Amino acid sequence: MSNDWWSSISGLGQRHSQEADVPEQDETITSSLEAESVIVVSNRQPYRHRFESTADGEKSVAVDRPTGGLTAGLDPVMQRLNGTWIAWGDGDADRTVSNSDGQVRVPPEEPTYTLQRVWLSEADVAAYYYGYSNQALWPLCHVSLENTQFDIQQYRRYRAVNETFAETIVEHTTSESVIWFQDYHLACAPGMVREQCGDEQFLLHFWHIPWPTVPVFRICPQARALLKGLLGNDLIGFHVSEYCRNFCNCVSELLEDSSVDVAAGEITYNGRTTAVRAYPMGVDAERIKRRSLNVAESAWRTFKADWGIDPDVRLVLGVDRLDYTKGIPERLRSLERLWEERPRWRGRFTYVQKGSESRSQIEAYQQLQQTVREISARINERFGTDEWQPVVLIDAALSREQLSGLYRYSDVALVTPLRDGMNLVAQEYVAAQVDDDGVLILSELAGSHEQLGDAVLSINPYDISGQADAIERALTMPEAERRHRCRRLRRSVHENDLTAWLEDVFSTVSDCKSDKT
Ligand code: F6P
Repeated sequence: MSNDWWSSISGLGQRHSQEADVPEQDETITSSLEAESVIVVSNRQPYRHRFESTADGEKSVAVDRPTGGLTAGLDPVMQRLNGTWIAWGDGDADRTVSNSDGQVRVPPEEPTYTLQRVWLSEADVAAYYYGYSNQALWPLCHVSLENTQFDIQQYRRYRAVNETFAETIVEHTTSESVIWFQDYHLACAPGMVREQCGDEQFLLHFWHIPWPTVPVFRICPQARALLKGLLGNDLIGFHVSEYCRNFCNCVSELLEDSSVDVAAGEITYNGRTTAVRAYPMGVDAERIKRRSLNVAESAWRTFKADWGIDPDVRLVLGVDRLDYTKGIPERLRSLERLWEERPRWRGRFTYVQKGSESRSQIEAYQQLQQTVREISARINERFGTDEWQPVVLIDAALSREQLSGLYRYSDVALVTPLRDGMNLVAQEYVAAQVDDDGVLILSELAGSHEQLGDAVLSINPYDISGQADAIERALTMPEAERRHRCRRLRRSVHENDLTAWLEDVFSTVSDCKSDKT
C-alpha cells in the first residue's frame, strides 16, 4: 500500500470543526480516499437483508442495521475507505440480494463499498457464535465467570469457522492489502492467514472487548492457541492501556518462547514482532450533534405521548443491548432504592430503558431479559400511580430521530456496565447534548471512563446505594455545574471522535509498515 493512501486519510484531520456541515464533509472525504486494499473482517455484518410481508401479502426485502458499537462505528469508516467488508451473512434474504460470490454493494441507499458475505451452517452458528464466542470468550473477557463454559467441540467449530473466514480473506487479498480483523470471534484467523500468505500483507486486529488479567485468562483451556492466533497480526489494538498490559502479561506468562516488552507494547514470537497499542474508539460526534439539533419538538412530544411518558416529569435514560455485562438489574435496583428511601423523588422523574434484544438463544441472556422485566414491573407496581409510571421499558426498534430525541432531552443518562470494553452509548449521549444540560453517570469499569472520568459522575455499578446517591446528585446538580461538565465532555468527545480513532490506528499502521520494509 502506498503512502499516498495514508496521506489521503491524514487529510481527514481537517474536518474536525464542530460548526461545519457534516454531509458535505463526508462527500469530500469519500472522494478523497482510494483505499480499496482495506479488508475489514468481522463476525457481525453492517447490513442485514431480511424478508418481510407487505400489507397485500407479498414478500419484500428490508434492510436492518444491526445494533452494536462495532458495526455502527465502522460502517462510516468503510464508507470513506471504500474497501471490502467480510462478515457472516445472517439475514434470511442475504443470499437473494447477493451475487453468486456472496457480494453486495452497500450502503443500500448509496453504495460505496463491497460487503462480502460468509455463509455459515446452523451448526456453525450454534457452536461458533452462540457457543465458543459468546459462552466462553465473551464472559471470560468480561470476568463473568459464572457464565463461562468451555466446550472442546465448540472450540473446534470456532477454529473451523475462523478457517472459512481466513480462506475468504485469502481470496480477496493482494500484496498491498491491509487486513483489519475485528473482535473476539476471529482470534485464530490472523495466524491462519499469515500461514497461507506469508509476511507481505499487513494484519491488524482490534479487540473491542476487555482483555482480562493473567489469572483470569489462563482459566481458558485454549488460552495458548488463542494467543498464537492473535500473534499472526502485526498490530493489535485495544480501547485502553490496561487491556494492552493484560494482553502482554498473558503472552509473557503463557508463551514460553516469547519476548515481551510490556512498557513499549512489543511482542516477539516465532521470529515475528507484534505491536500492542491502545486506541480509544470514538463516535461520529458531528453527525450525532446534527441529528440532535434536527429533532422536531413535535416529534418528541408525540413520542412521549405514545409511550405514556408524562410531559412534565424529568427523564433519566438507559440505552443498552440486553446483556448481563451492562449492569441493568443493578441500575434498576438503585432506582428502586432511591424511590423507596427518598419518597420525595416519586412522581418527579421517569426512567426510560431502551433495551435491544441480543443473543437470545443463550440462557443467560433469556434470564437477563426476564429479570429486567420483573424488576421493572415490581418497581411500577410498588411506586406507580394513575398519573405516573416510574419505569418505561422500550424494546421496539426506534427511528434515528426518536433515539436522538431521547438522547437530547433526557436529563440524566445512566451508563453503568459491570465491565465494558469501551461503551459508545456514553459518548453518543454526550455528543447529543447540544443544549449542554445533561448529566452522565458512568461506571468506573467501562473503558470510556478513562477518557470521560473527570467530568462525569462516576459510580461503581455494584454499589447500589452509591448509584442511587449519584442519580439524586445528578437530578439536583446546579445548572452552572451541569453546563461546565457537559461542555468539557463534549469537547473531549469531539476531539477524540471516530476520525481521530481512525487516524490514530492508521498512523501506527503506516509506521509499522515502514519499519517492516
Ligand atoms: O463489543 C463487542 C460487540 O461486538 C460490539 O461491537 C457490539 O456492541 C456487540 O458486541 C454486538 O453483539 P452481537 O454481534 O453478538 O450482536
